[in-house]
Amino acid sequence: MASNNMEKTTSEKNSLTDNLHILLDPDCTQEEAISVYDSWTTYDEDVIGHAYNGHKHALKTVMKLGIGKEARILDVAAGTGLVGTELYEHGYTNIDALDASKELLATAEKKRVYKKLMCLALGEDKLDIDEDTYDVVTCCGCFGYGHIQPNHLNEIVRIAKPGGYVIAVVRRSPPPCDKFCEKLREFIQQLKRNCLVNDFTMENIQTIKMTYLDL
Ligand SMILES: C[S@@+](CC[C@H](N)C(=O)[O-])C[C@H]1O[C@@H](n2cnc3c(N)ncnc32)[C@H](O)[C@@H]1O
Repeated sequence: MASNNMEKTTSEKNSLTDNLHILLDPDCTQEEAISVYDSWTTYDEDVIGHAYNGHKHALKTVMKLGIGKEARILDVAAGTGLVGTELYEHGYTNIDALDASKELLATAEKKRVYKKLMCLALGEDKLDIDEDTYDVVTCCGCFGYGHIQPNHLNEIVRIAKPGGYVIAVVRRSPPPCDKFCEKLREFIQQLKRNCLVNDFTMENIQTIKMTYLDL
């Protein structure tokens, strides 16, 4: 079928390319991003079909750090639950999920890998979560324009336990989006200078930049 904007089917409109076009635009707002995710019914098949493997890198890092299976984990920006499923299938069963998209979280809930699911937007406001709650916080594919910002790490670090880890899988982007990664790195250095983070390691894995913070 010839495909122009008038004739596009719903699934074509929701294609990975169309959605990424909005989501990777430096002017994308948080409202626009969440609206895209809320209507992205084919997220799993689209991203996995295009070789997305951020969730697998998150698991690899959890295992490489020797994190015990009993660890209390928060999957920030859990989306449809790809990270949670990966962790669960490798024996990590004490996982909560947090995401701003009600619809993606509803998909995640059906996978039955999370203990608790919280439909919350991480921002500058304090979350209704006690400090020092989680041994590990994973943040996979969620730092970016219109998404989670570097300074939102303050809140992530607050709810993570001292001695715990924050594991971030961040897409390496071409200009102008590459500036975002630089801002993230600068903010982490600031957290380190303020003694809120003991150390951080960055690893480049093909197109994915892994960051883990030791608290
Ligand atoms: C690219 S998806 C990644 C989902 C999942 N982590 C994965 O690896 O498949 C980005 C997710 O970030 C969530 N998100 C964006 N901004 C957020 C915010 N401020 N607070 C919580 N979740 C947010 C979106 O709803 C979406 O589920």
